Amino acid sequence: MITKIRELLEEVQTLKAKSEEEIEALRIKYLSKKGIINSLMAEFREVPAEQKKAIGIKINELKQKAQEQITQLKEEMGTNDFSSADLDLTRTAYPIKLGTRHPISIVTNEVIDIFTRLGFNIAEGPEMEDDWHVFSSLNFAEDHPARDMQDTFFIESKPDIVLRTHTSSVQTRVMETTEPPIRIICPGRVYRNEAISYRAHCFFHQVEALYVDKNVSFADLRQVLLLFAQEMFGKDTKIRLRPSYFPFTEPSAEMDISCNICGGKGCPFCKHSGWVEILGCGMVDPNVLEANGIDSTIYSGYALGMGIERITNLKYQVNDIRMFSENDIRFLKEFEAAH
Ligand code: DAH
Repeated sequence: MITKIRELLEEVQTLKAKSEEEIEALRIKYLSKKGIINSLMAEFREVPAEQKKAIGIKINELKQKAQEQITQLKEEMGTNDFSSADLDLTRTAYPIKLGTRHPISIVTNEVIDIFTRLGFNIAEGPEMEDDWHVFSSLNFAEDHPARDMQDTFFIESKPDIVLRTHTSSVQTRVMETTEPPIRIICPGRVYRNEAISYRAHCFFHQVEALYVDKNVSFADLRQVLLLFAQEMFGKDTKIRLRPSYFPFTEPSAEMDISCNICGGKGCPFCKHSGWVEILGCGMVDPNVLEANGIDSTIYSGYALGMGIERITNLKYQVNDIRMFSENDIRFLKEFEAAH
């Protein structure tokens, strides 16, 4: 038996293989359950007691050598795959594919940028809100018809918890905890129970601005609106304010800009009027200031709110609001150069 083991030891040390399959075949031949070394173990039982020690040592040596040899063959095979001849360290790296910013993010950032340059700070609030912050504190009476203007998603009733229908709720959140002067810009997602079509969606985005201080006037509001419109749509942009109604502002107005597609001459986009509506605004109603603990005899303020999808539609002539939430890469790629 000793001679047999010695022969095997020599054999094992010269093993060669050209492929991974061949290495595996060798492993099976020598080291598997039914392999040569295991069958030696069976013979080992018959060995007379006085030889057991010497033969045992030899078998172990054989087993170890076989394992080492096979591991080495595997390593050689592996390093061959990456031999230095295949590596070109001077080659330029593959370009990393960058994603693009979503058009809604691009426009939101632009609005934020314009207002932060004027000294406004960003404020955010929860999308799931209570009735007080979305309606009551903003001067919507219990049976106010304006509550019907906004089709609300109710989550719980008594107390009413809703998905906020506008970012005006953040005005209240800030006013109730902050002493004027307050100058904030509130971007965020809002929800309305609308049938989805090319011009309406059940969720969209708004940016709200609020300024409360002593002696804030409508003239201040108008000046900020003009500056915003010209920064956003170009310096030739004109603005027009039309009287309107919102429960939380008095007086209230809607702002149109001269149609940025035809330059105000009239086209199908502006329905040949030369003007397109872009936002709502007004002087903060004293009731709203008082509801939020601000003395309306000392302070006044203005507020404005706009839909980001609407601004984006105008800026980039996107005609279907559904494009913004479909994640169509071809559409998103069109905005690669915009940021
Ligand atoms: N919250 C209004 C809406 O969702 C938009 C708005 C109008 C906000 C006038 C204002 C504002 O702050 O003064 O339609």
